[in-house]
Amino acid sequence: MNFEFTEDQIQIRDMAREFAQNEIAPTAAQYDEKAEFPWPIIKKMAELNFLGMMIPEQYGGMDFDATTVTLVIEEISKADAACGVILAVQNSLGVSALVKHGSEELKKKYLPQLASGEKLCAFGLTEAGAGSDFSAMTTTAEDKGDHWLLNGRKTFITNGSTAEIFTIIAMTDKNKGARGMSAFVVEKSYPGFSVGTIEKKLGIRASDTTELILDNVKVPKENLIGKKGHGFIYAMQSLDTGRIGVGAQSLGIAQAAYEKALAYSKTRVQWGSPITKLQAIQFKFADMATRIEATKWLVYHAAYLRDNDKPFVKEASMAKVFSSEMATYVTHQAMQIMGGYGYMKEYDVERYYRDARITEIYEGTSEIQRHVIASLVIK
Ligand code: CAA
Repeated sequence: MNFEFTEDQIQIRDMAREFAQNEIAPTAAQYDEKAEFPWPIIKKMAELNFLGMMIPEQYGGMDFDATTVTLVIEEISKADAACGVILAVQNSLGVSALVKHGSEELKKKYLPQLASGEKLCAFGLTEAGAGSDFSAMTTTAEDKGDHWLLNGRKTFITNGSTAEIFTIIAMTDKNKGARGMSAFVVEKSYPGFSVGTIEKKLGIRASDTTELILDNVKVPKENLIGKKGHGFIYAMQSLDTGRIGVGAQSLGIAQAAYEKALAYSKTRVQWGSPITKLQAIQFKFADMATRIEATKWLVYHAAYLRDNDKPFVKEASMAKVFSSEMATYVTHQAMQIMGGYGYMKEYDVERYYRDARITEIYEGTSEIQRHVIASLVIK
């Protein structure tokens, strides 16, 4: 067993850490307060080649392994979980199906623009009536001979108003349920495509979450990704990798909260001593540190399995459910340790507490992760 990262992985992680702490952390609270998309930071991430991390080199990407991407998302999320999810969607959900199953023409056309960060991408799966059970979706793609005609509405789409290239999952055969879905590349510029409501959220407020409206959108025939009827499987495959990314994001949030609470505790004097001298506080740090450590191994192991072409669906779900619930726990404890100061916006832990909550919901709720795990451990 080898528990060491490679030199390349360490070098890239350290670069991400330095960038995140110097360039993202100082303004994260302001972007959160204004719910403003952090374009200047995203542009800098593009310069560091962080927007095409899993795109093959021949299309301008970095072709990093999942472990490296995990480390980058973790470091970025330590500074700002909103940047973490923008990055995660750009590198996995928005592009995975295209990288894995797209035709050579599609890949040549779209991947270089995404790899360079010239354009952002997003993943259109969820609908108002189709969340955990996304096979209930009503968005349709009709075969009109020389083009596809897409109609429907997607909801809660990360990068919805900022992306220009979308992987949209739509029904090509309503009667076939999960086997009747297909995946398409849809451009924002196509007539009939528009962005609907921009949601107001509890956390990750600098990331945009929107509705997408597809009103008789003509999509070129060749924009079908892979095979007709394989949209459900492609979506699940994208989510499998995406869930490791949520694990990394949760790890980042939790460590940021832990570090803030620890620094505070060393200087917060009550009854004549720093509160780190109190066993009640020490035990909180012991529990937080243990859960963070356990999460690391779940998340890195899931990434390792993916990198080594081994089955990782169960491990990705385990990493996701454990890490997201750990982040909720750690941010809660960090706030508790900091008392009134933790509850105030000035000290960042309030933001981490809000940001942690979504990790238990998106890319499959904790209940869905348990459903996936149970189906794989009870045979
Ligand atoms: N990989 C590949 N194939 C898979 C798969 C996987 N992980 N999981 C299932 N499949 C296949 C099955 O083998 C099956 O194939 P066959 O028909 O050939 O047997 C088919 O897909 C259907 O599978 P199930 O019968 O298990 O489907 P189900 O409906 O019972 O359950 C589910 C599936 C696990 C509940 C799934 O619907 C699910 O994960 N739902 C949650 C959806 C989700 O995560 N949404 C997040 C939205 S995106 C988001 O949040 C983005 C963001 O903003 C950041």
